[in-house]
Amino acid sequence: MIKQAIIPLAGLGTRLLPLTSVIQKELLPLNGKPNLEYILEECVEAGIKQFIFIIPKNRPTIKNYFFNDKFYKKIIKKKKKDKNLKRIFKRIKMYQKMIKFVYQNKPDGTGAAVLKCKKYLKDKYFLMLLADDLIIKSNCSKEMISLHKKTKASIIATKKVEKRTVSRWGILGVKNKKKYSFSINKVIEKPLINEAPSNYAIIGRYILPKKILSVLKNQRKGKGGEVHITDAIKTLIKSGEKFYGNIFKGKYLDSGTLEGYVKSNLKISKL
Ligand code: G1P
Repeated sequence: MIKQAIIPLAGLGTRLLPLTSVIQKELLPLNGKPNLEYILEECVEAGIKQFIFIIPKNRPTIKNYFFNDKFYKKIIKKKKKDKNLKRIFKRIKMYQKMIKFVYQNKPDGTGAAVLKCKKYLKDKYFLMLLADDLIIKSNCSKEMISLHKKTKASIIATKKVEKRTVSRWGILGVKNKKKYSFSINKVIEKPLINEAPSNYAIIGRYILPKKILSVLKNQRKGKGGEVHITDAIKTLIKSGEKFYGNIFKGKYLDSGTLEGYVKSNLKISKL
């Protein structure tokens, strides 16, 4: 069973400036609810029991959002009849019980972030989600967990993208393609058009084996001076570890850029 989910939250959110100069990108509201809560809801529905949030020590916004009991208790005392307020606090209390924090003080990549979670990772496999990749209309984490149960292997969420955009994504090499899945034989982070093995892009959901930690420990920095999870996955594939692509059924919303964020708001408000 996959019970733990890692969520890296230490990015600077420069693609969402000026908003992110005061609000952390994962807390930006989408139709009245922070982006991050959509990700948590997807996980809870898929059976996740614990979240590991990776945050910078000097940016406690997310901690404040989920652990602000004093504030809630004070206003609940004043507005005793407000049922909605109690409902919100109950939801926050539920998340409180599930969240652990680890710290990444410089934005040195998703691989470096995963390595920080070592002391909490218990099971053979865990889920990792990138919070600005929203998938609506069908629960992608649930689909991936079910493919993992079937294959007993690692899983990456994927979607076909336009060929001219391949250098924006991690790109997968495809083998034995079925309708909603394939075996991954290659992976390249942000390739040039002529290097891309396909146009199936990695979208931010991964079921990874705990043994990726020992690969990450010895891994050198990659593109942009960051330790990429993609490079560790590449090493695992080369050593014979099985990885499958889950061609998810839902709709992808990129809320990590200003244009994407505005579009995501419009799409989500129509649900
Ligand atoms: C990250 C990953 C990339 C993946 C993308 C999906 O890139 O490194 O492999 O395709 O997320 O959103 P980033 O968006 O951080 O540049």
